[in-house]
Amino acid sequence: MLPYARPSITDDEIAEVEACLRSGWLATGPRAGRFEQLLASRLGVRHALGASTGTAALHLAVLACGIRPGDEVVTTPMTWVSTANVLLHAGAVPVFADVEPATLNLDPARVAEVLGPRTRAILPVHFAGQPCDEDAFLDLARGHGLFLVEDAAHALGASYKGRPIGAIADATMFSFHPAKNLTTGEGGAVTTDSDEIAERVKLLRFHGIAQTPESRFGGRGPVAYDVVEAGFKYNFSDIQAAIGIHQLARLDEMNRRRAELARAYRERLAAVPHVEPLGDAAYEHVHAWHILVASIEPDALTIGRDEVIGLLRAAGIGAGLHFVPLHLQTLYKPMADASKLPVATEANRRILTLPLFPDMADSDVDRVVDALAGILRAHVRRGAERPAGAAAAS
Ligand SMILES: Cc1ncc(COP(=O)(O)O)c(C=O)c1O
Repeated sequence: MLPYARPSITDDEIAEVEACLRSGWLATGPRAGRFEQLLASRLGVRHALGASTGTAALHLAVLACGIRPGDEVVTTPMTWVSTANVLLHAGAVPVFADVEPATLNLDPARVAEVLGPRTRAILPVHFAGQPCDEDAFLDLARGHGLFLVEDAAHALGASYKGRPIGAIADATMFSFHPAKNLTTGEGGAVTTDSDEIAERVKLLRFHGIAQTPESRFGGRGPVAYDVVEAGFKYNFSDIQAAIGIHQLARLDEMNRRRAELARAYRERLAAVPHVEPLGDAAYEHVHAWHILVASIEPDALTIGRDEVIGLLRAAGIGAGLHFVPLHLQTLYKPMADASKLPVATEANRRILTLPLFPDMADSDVDRVVDALAGILRAHVRRGAERPAGAAAAS
């Protein structure tokens, strides 16, 4: 089975994990600190703070921006459930705005329509690794006195008009889950230029103790400790950092390979009728190519998107689904007005994720595209035969 994602791990990560295990320091310690410094300097941001998962990092980012119970936060339905779940955990109210048809990124024009007196923040997701329209979101946030908190789980290595994602918003979250562009097994980080937000993240990620785990257990802080707030156990471990340090050194190389494979997919898919990859944003950007999402034309087929994915899997191709939009989930249905989310609703009939990871061979792309083309060809609705490139005209 060709998976939709697979981490790229070398002997360097393995040796560093072994050294970490032998060092006796497995939880938050010197390697975690080193990884944070490397990440901050790579992004050109004052603070990068590791967390146990991306979800934990986003929860911390939301709380550190002062989002309180009853506050509204405008976000996208085209995301993993963490993005909205952490808002509920903070007592906030997620308000869903629709996405742009070509990129499935949150649409700033739709966001502007739902801002109100209780709105406190905007939370875009850089879908698939393609940067959102940062200038539009910064204008909205500054114009209305809102925080811009970003879910960049897909976007490490991406940039917008020359600025790295992670150095633009008030606070940005990254995920280091094994499917992501950089993995630490599980893990995540918050990046910010704000000393105040960074201090809140540090306090909340370790029980609300006004002391870091490194100073406390490294014998560099006072013996006694003081709990000043009900924080979380969300700290980042040295084992995670041991993997991350070497992943970060290879990030550009891994992202280059992702971009190369994405280019090959786009070239090959251009010749296949009834399917089209997502489009490019009009502004200057570097895409991180976390996932390769394509859009089928269900009205031209006798089978639906789920069956296409099922047939790909039966052919040994681990196609994925990113994502079932949140406004269609049982939990979020009552909180959303689906009639205001037509693009995301329609995308749910069309999108599927094709395998993309750095260690994939060029021939894997051919195999995936050939299998998909064969499935679509075998299930074209009579009279719907059409040339390639017409699939995503929604
Ligand atoms: C868009 C998005 N947000 C948040 C997360 C959560 O990250 P993690 O799995 O590291 O908690 C993910 C990960 O799958 C994601 O894809």
